[in-house]
Amino acid sequence: MKLFTLSTLSLVYITTISATPSPRATCSKGRTATSGSCCVWYNVLDDIQANLRVSFLFDGGICGEDAHDALRLSFHDAIGYSPLLKSQRKVGGDGADGSLIMFASAELGYPANEGLEEIVHSEKRFADKWGVSIQLAAAGSVRNCAGGPRISFLAGRPSATHASPVDLVTEAFDSVDKILARVQDAGLTPQELVDLLASHSIGLQDTVDPTISGTPFDTTPSVFDTKFYLETLLHGTVWPGDGAHPSEAMSPFEGELRLQSDAALAQYPRTSCYWSGFVNNQNPMASRFATSMAKLALLGQNPHILQDCSEVIPPPTLPNPPAATLPKGTTLELTVLQFVIILNFLCLLLPGQIAKLHF
Ligand code: HEM
Repeated sequence: MKLFTLSTLSLVYITTISATPSPRATCSKGRTATSGSCCVWYNVLDDIQANLRVSFLFDGGICGEDAHDALRLSFHDAIGYSPLLKSQRKVGGDGADGSLIMFASAELGYPANEGLEEIVHSEKRFADKWGVSIQLAAAGSVRNCAGGPRISFLAGRPSATHASPVDLVTEAFDSVDKILARVQDAGLTPQELVDLLASHSIGLQDTVDPTISGTPFDTTPSVFDTKFYLETLLHGTVWPGDGAHPSEAMSPFEGELRLQSDAALAQYPRTSCYWSGFVNNQNPMASRFATSMAKLALLGQNPHILQDCSEVIPPPTLPNPPAATLPKGTTLELTVLQFVIILNFLCLLLPGQIAKLHF
C-alpha cells in the first residue's frame, strides 16, 4: 500500500514536471527561443534582411537579385565537399563551412563561381560582424519569395580552415552522368538534386549569355513555383540571346534561358518522371526542397555539434502561387491539366519515354 502510494506520488510528480513548459530565452524585439544561444541569429537575420545589398541584401526583404544570389551561394559553398578526394588523401573541402567567403580569394577564381563576386563581398560584411552565415541568408532568402518554404537552420559551424578544391561545383555544360556522380560523391541523390533545382524557379542568368543578362529560367522569377519544372519540359525552339552558348539549351520562347543541365535532367530517364511529378504540385515540391536544403546545409558538417535555431526563420507570410498555366507563345495546344495527365500516364506505363517527347 505504502509502495503504491509512493509510486503514485512519483508518477504525479513526473507528470507534473513533464507538463511544465521549459522556460524560453527572451531575445530582442520580444522574441523568444528554446536556447539563449539562438537569440543572436534573430539579430543577424534582421541585419541581413535590412542591409544585405549587393549594390547598396535583400533589398529590404524581397525576392530580388540578392535573395537569388544568396541561395546560389549556399549551394556553391556546400557542394565543395568530396569524400572521394578525402579517401585518396587529397584536400576534399568541408562542404557548408563558409569557405567561399573565408577563402574567397581562391574560390572566386574557380570558373563555376563566376557571378558570385558581389554576393560574397556583401555577405563578407556580415561575416566580419557576426560570423559566417551563408546558410542563414539562404534560408531567409527563400522565405522572401512567394511559395518559398521555411527552411531549417542549424548554427555553430566551426570556421573554415582551408579553401574547397577547384572543380567540385557542377557546371551547366557537364553531362548528366558527371553531374549526378559529383552530387552523389557529396552525399546527394539524383532526386535530391531535382528537389534542390526548385531554386532555379527564382533564378536569373548573367554569365551564360551576357548579352541578355538578367534573363530568368522561368516566366515567374520572383515566385517559388512549379513553372520552372513545367517550362523546362516544353520543346525548345529559340536561342533567346545572340545564339548558342556552352551551358545553354534551346528555350521554348524569347525572354527565358534554359540551362543545358536543367534540360538534360528534365529528360534523363532516371530523373524525368521525378522532375515532371512536380509540375503543378506546389506543396510536395516546396516540402521536398526544404528537406533537401536542410541536407545540403549539413554537407561535410557534424550535425551533432550544431544548435537547431530554425525558429529564428519566420514562417512564410506570402500567399502560395496560383496553379501553373502554359505560357503564351508555346505551340502546345493543351491545358496544363491535360499535359500533367499525359506525363503521369507516360511515367506510369512507359517510364524513360519523356525524353523522346516534343511538347
Ligand atoms: C546541376 C546543378 C546546377 C547547375 C549546373 C547550376 C548552374 C547554374 C547557372 C549556370 C546559373 C546562372 C548563373 C549566372 O549566370 O549568373 C545558376 C543560377 C542559379 N542557381 Fe544554379 N545550378 C545548379 C544547382 C543549383 C542548386 C542546387 C541551387 C540552390 C540550392 C542553385 C541555385 C541557383 C540560383 C538561385 C540561381 C540564380 C542566381 C541569380 O538569379 O543571380 N543552383 N545556376
